[in-house]
Amino acid sequence: MLDALPKNLLPKSPARAPLLEVRGLKKAFGGMIAIQNVDLSIAEGSVHAIIGPNGAGKTTAFNCITAFVPPTAGTIFLGGARIDGLPAHVVARHGVARTYQNVRLFPNMTALENVLVGQHRRLHTTFWEAIIGSGRFRREEAEARERAREYLAFVGIAQRAGDLARNMPYGDQRRLEIARALVAGPRILMLDEPAAGMNPAEGRALVELIERIRAELGVTVVLIEHHMRVVMAVAERITVFNRGAVLTEGPPAEIQSDERVIEAYLGRRSGHVATPVVESEPHRPMEARIA
Ligand SMILES: Nc1ncnc2c1ncn2[C@@H]1O[C@H](COP(=O)(O)OP(=O)(O)O)[C@@H](O)[C@H]1O
Ligand SMILES: [Mg+2]
Repeated sequence: MLDALPKNLLPKSPARAPLLEVRGLKKAFGGMIAIQNVDLSIAEGSVHAIIGPNGAGKTTAFNCITAFVPPTAGTIFLGGARIDGLPAHVVARHGVARTYQNVRLFPNMTALENVLVGQHRRLHTTFWEAIIGSGRFRREEAEARERAREYLAFVGIAQRAGDLARNMPYGDQRRLEIARALVAGPRILMLDEPAAGMNPAEGRALVELIERIRAELGVTVVLIEHHMRVVMAVAERITVFNRGAVLTEGPPAEIQSDERVIEAYLGRRSGHVATPVVESEPHRPMEARIA
């Protein structure tokens, strides 16, 4: 009888099981292989950084995981559920949220409106209820605004609620994008170069914010980042990408002193770590990137 088995023979689940598991991920654009054989394991409740020279394939990996582009091969699991092959909005519903290397906001909408856009998946009002202005619609609308304000406050830009996104300083736009991602209630937040364009003080504030996202909201964070001070201060583990593959993975102290990592950064034409030369927008043709 199974019931008679002593309980201590049951396998114990590890304290921090992987939340995100990527195996053998590959993405080819025409004949050009952007990434291949990429394995990633992100522990639940951790902050995990992805570093590597420009063009190494970091953003492409994010784009595949979030279903922004379809992977050519590989499997992606979130909390044990397979998510590769699902449309982007379904992947989002599984709890994956992201920001973009090039900030993507609605420039002519206010900060508050930009955050409201991020939480539509939480609302239950039907089209007809909205048209007739039902009680549920008005209640949900009020709650959504309240929640949007809470997240603006959480990322530290409560005073900007009524400002148009395009009029906000760059650092605040990045925070706004994070608020919009968080309001959807994700399990994992993927930040693509959140410190880009920030000064050292803003970088330190960002480290603090990421730590609060993990500790207070319980959201696992993966960030692609070039600013090594930010990476070393915030990440528990680091995965290094080079030439479309994973070069190595480990805790910050190990990565920092790894000869191969130093070489990957210094040994390439565009390998200057602090200044991303090539921006990555998936819809941009390849010629534009190489130029
Ligand atoms: N939509 C796309 N079409 C064609 N090539 C792309 C596309 N997106 C990325 N690439 C190419 O894939 C490679 C990896 O780019 P990317 O993932 O943006 O690198 P990283 O984020 O590490 O700088 C680059 O050579 C880039 O030009
Ligand atoms: Mg990138």
